[in-house]
Amino acid sequence: MVSRIIPVEQFDLIIFGGTGDLARRKILPGLFKRFADGQVPEGSRIIGAARSEMDQAAFLTFAEEAVRDAEGDKIDATVLKDFLAILDYVAIDALGEEGWSALAEKMREGPVRAFYFSVGPSLFDDLARRLQQYDLVKPDTRIVVEKPFGHDLETARALNKVLSAHFDESQIYRIDHYLGKETVQNLMAVRFGNMLFEPLWNSQYIDHVQITVAETVGVGGRGGYYDKSGAMRDMVQNHLMQLLCLTAMEPPAKFDPDAVRDEKLKVIRALEPVEPHQIVRGQYDKTDSESNFRDDVENPSSKTESFVALKCHVGNWRWAGTPFYLRTGKRLEARDSEIIVVFKSTPHSIFGSDAGGGHNELRIQLQPDEGITLKVTIKEPGPGGMRLMDVPLDMSFAETLGEHADTPDAYERLIMDVIRGNQTLFMRDDEVEAAWAWTDPIIQGWEAVHDVPKPYDSYSQGPTDATLLMQRDGREWREIGA
Ligand code: BG6
Repeated sequence: MVSRIIPVEQFDLIIFGGTGDLARRKILPGLFKRFADGQVPEGSRIIGAARSEMDQAAFLTFAEEAVRDAEGDKIDATVLKDFLAILDYVAIDALGEEGWSALAEKMREGPVRAFYFSVGPSLFDDLARRLQQYDLVKPDTRIVVEKPFGHDLETARALNKVLSAHFDESQIYRIDHYLGKETVQNLMAVRFGNMLFEPLWNSQYIDHVQITVAETVGVGGRGGYYDKSGAMRDMVQNHLMQLLCLTAMEPPAKFDPDAVRDEKLKVIRALEPVEPHQIVRGQYDKTDSESNFRDDVENPSSKTESFVALKCHVGNWRWAGTPFYLRTGKRLEARDSEIIVVFKSTPHSIFGSDAGGGHNELRIQLQPDEGITLKVTIKEPGPGGMRLMDVPLDMSFAETLGEHADTPDAYERLIMDVIRGNQTLFMRDDEVEAAWAWTDPIIQGWEAVHDVPKPYDSYSQGPTDATLLMQRDGREWREIGA
């Protein structure tokens, strides 16, 4: 297989929040991997910028530990040394003058310039102002921002306003790391690179779609943030919404940023409001050895949900009558994320109604392993009459693609796309706002009635009501972890 990686130009990437958790877990290890793969052109630089007391040496130690933690034993000492040599550090105060002249002095004309705002959104305005004040933003400078992008429509609008006051939309890269996942992009390749699926990709042939993002972890050390957020804001408004969009959107005319984002936006805008009885909220409860949600967020009366299951409709010609069921939660039985497109049964079984088989499913698995499976019906082998069975046509990427299956972490891809200047996998301002406009009334509805989430056992399938949500429609969730 010939590698057809699109090269990047020499760059200066400045990471505000360079000593933070995201830099340690994702950004620095991701950059290291791209560097080790020879994708970081010579002369490129990565500059950590943070308020912490670190100096250059301490930052290099921090970066080395971050890379070692992520890569383990397989690390090549020479490559690591060369990587550390392209790192630099500047202590900077977003709210004051300290460090800005030093940063300005480090800037060069020529390389692609990108500023990664790996900081809370309350600092966006200050950072943007200083960047302008010190004349650090050129017409093709890129700004990367992270979620949470707003808490509701109003705050998202305010953030967009802050950013648009200082930068052009073409400079802004809003990360939703789910868009950087290999299989998520594969969903587009499968839909739009094959003739097989598109003619069937509508409500005439598809019974329903299930989208599940299940995690085993609880809220960990993020209780403070999570208690104010909950699964709806933390996962549904962004990650699940993106998966829904890519599944439901019309084929864009080309794979170009605005063509793709225009089509995704149309899906969000076509989403019908969700009635309260079509949603189940849950909160994880104790098992013998583990804490419950309320302990974890240190709020004994918390009404925040760690689980959501809902049924929604995309109100357009393609999807009228085909429900989309979305489900996400923490402390569930397994880490298991997938999109399942369930086709309708054959209109008539020539083999008799008790022969079995009869409907296809396309399963796009994101986590823990990546792969695509198409369930088809065949004859059960052996004598004894015509009995049917379902078998998977399996394309596990690890097996099929061998060494090429080393799928990059989402951040590796997304950071390189920033340097390439490709916004296809980043959210546009109107897309984020449309997603909040759909989410807000749901959350407001809960708040208005002081809704209390249903407790569910840790490491289970979630609340029983979520199972019933499907069963009422004569359908079933695929079991988490099955
Ligand atoms: C983040 C959420 O955006 O995504 C977390 O804030 C969640 O709560 C995480 O755990 C899940 O990401 P992934 O890539 O592990 O599925």
